[in-house]
Amino acid sequence: MTAPALLQLFVESQAALEATAAPLSVEDFVVQAMEDASPVKWHLAHVAWFFETFVLAAASTGYQAFDPRYRFLFNSYYEAVGDRHPRPDRGLLSRPTVEEVRRYRRHVGEAMVRLLEGPALPPAPAFAVELGVNHAEQHQELIATDVKVVLARNPLRPVYLPRPARAPAVPVELAWVSQEGGLLEVGHAGDAFAFDNERPRHRTFLEPFQIANRLITNAEYLEFMEAGGYEQPTLWLSDGWAARQRLGWEAPMYWERAEGGGWEVASLHGSGKVEPLEPVCHVSFYEADAYARWKGVRLPLEQEWEAAVARQGPPRAGRWSPHPEPLAGSPAAGEIAQAFGAAWQWTQSPYVPYPGFRSFDGAFGEYNGKFMSNQLVLRGSSCVTPPRHARVTYRNFFRPDARWQFTGIRLARDAR
Ligand SMILES: [Fe+2]
Repeated sequence: MTAPALLQLFVESQAALEATAAPLSVEDFVVQAMEDASPVKWHLAHVAWFFETFVLAAASTGYQAFDPRYRFLFNSYYEAVGDRHPRPDRGLLSRPTVEEVRRYRRHVGEAMVRLLEGPALPPAPAFAVELGVNHAEQHQELIATDVKVVLARNPLRPVYLPRPARAPAVPVELAWVSQEGGLLEVGHAGDAFAFDNERPRHRTFLEPFQIANRLITNAEYLEFMEAGGYEQPTLWLSDGWAARQRLGWEAPMYWERAEGGGWEVASLHGSGKVEPLEPVCHVSFYEADAYARWKGVRLPLEQEWEAAVARQGPPRAGRWSPHPEPLAGSPAAGEIAQAFGAAWQWTQSPYVPYPGFRSFDGAFGEYNGKFMSNQLVLRGSSCVTPPRHARVTYRNFFRPDARWQFTGIRLARDAR
């Protein structure tokens, strides 16, 4: 990537990050509603910390740290960088203030612009900048995801952004797209940016299969609930049933029983009735798996998902939106709709290294590789993923009981 392109990428990613936080009040920036969800202020500071630690401090350009104590405070999980403030205590940090974090971000941002306006960077620091931009995009998504927990826990149900007017959605019948399978290739190839976990491109064998042409809707998921899906242990994996019992699940996260019957849902648009044709969102892997079993089908393998979606070419940049929207119309014959920009799709594949996997060098080796146990792969992207960030080969990963991410359901089945 050329130096001006890198500079533009950096500037745009920082503006997008700030824009995601812009609708919030300063009080919203500090709360940590659950252990997994970090405060907005922490996300903003941590993104600057990444550039400061891995680009500016490493570039030996005489950069002066804004505050050396932030190295400890805003380190997420990098053992190579040293100790860190405990994740569950991020919401206890009333200091530095939001204003101080803004000054920190300006300090880092200006130093980054000076660096990127200078002579072209050697490959290693240039890569660190590009990784930093992709890292910022991940935290842009997390700001929306994590602050949703904060706002939904508030009985006043604050509105992050009002729901835009849109034409009424029309039901779209679920159709199965047949795929031949066979020996084919998955994984990222070429020089364009990708995370280490997407490489190398390699062969895999798939039996013939079919994949659903759209995501499961709220109305369809409600049928599962009304058929007693949450009360039938035989539909659930053993660990899933234990989680359902322990956590008292009876609906997706953010759903609540409405006073006059039916269900309401808390979203970044405030509180409202469950919209039947929106994709179901905020379900765990266990719920997605139980739903699939109830339908007599299954979740896709990550390789099946990629092989099927790759035929459609790269993701078409959609619109960033704080809430997943219904399909605007029927997919064309054979089209796999809502692959990107609605909800992440659980696969049944464990998050493990590809054959021949090599982690990034140095501290960046901690970025993805060390999380390759006890998590499942999600494919696609969600409405709160920056559109530029989506890739056919992208491998997101979460624990099977995680529900606070924008996660939905796409079904698959064996060819018959
Ligand atoms: Fe991070």
